[in-house]
Amino acid sequence: MTAGGRAGRQPGRFITIEGGEGAGKSTQIALLVARLEAGGKTVRRTREPGGSPGAEAIRNLVVTGAGDRWDGVTEALLMFAARRDHLRATVWPALERGEWVVSDRFADSSMAYQGYARGIGPGKIAELYAWTLGDFRPDLTLILDLPVEIGLARARARAGDEQRFEGLDLDFHRRLSAGFHAIAAAEPDRCRLVDGSGDIDGTAALIWAAVAERFDLGR
Ligand code: TYD
Repeated sequence: MTAGGRAGRQPGRFITIEGGEGAGKSTQIALLVARLEAGGKTVRRTREPGGSPGAEAIRNLVVTGAGDRWDGVTEALLMFAARRDHLRATVWPALERGEWVVSDRFADSSMAYQGYARGIGPGKIAELYAWTLGDFRPDLTLILDLPVEIGLARARARAGDEQRFEGLDLDFHRRLSAGFHAIAAAEPDRCRLVDGSGDIDGTAALIWAAVAERFDLGR
């Protein structure tokens, strides 16, 4: 078994959706999944942190409680522990079956949140990635991008218990946004920055254009 625990290329497709707080990922993922299914694909929708029983248990630890409950290193380790379980239990088996897996967040969130915003540094996150996941990568990563102030206002308008990250300060969210931009610039073949500041249909059209182009699907 390789470090990533996954041998060779699997027949399915792995799409990840990333972005800061209030970027509208949930709505856009629902629309993307519906459109892929309408095109005859078998789609598995999943999320991080979480997506498998073990990873959901870890999620409960990381998304609740005070903003300073975990330091950045512990947070990064918990995220990659959850991620490896998610891949082994959910994502890799689905890809083996030839399914299209769409994940609400993946490792770029660790790079942006822990690596850039929390200050662990991109090098450490890359090391953790290589050790826990090997050379496994998404086929396409869509990064929903919008001005920090708009995203935070949208996120605050939302109720819920999982407010640990939304509570962090404006500078944190600026570093986060800069981190996502750096990721997109570093891996332009895998990543597409998508303007998420417009309305729902407009953003959905941009997302579908990127997916259709990447996988050569009819529009
Ligand atoms: P999520 O519930 O998906 O929040 P959102 O609705 O904003 O997408 O994710 C919970 C939080 O976990 C979110 O603020 C981002 C954060 N996170 C990290 O810090 N590192 C990671 O690796 C992942 C996957 C998420």
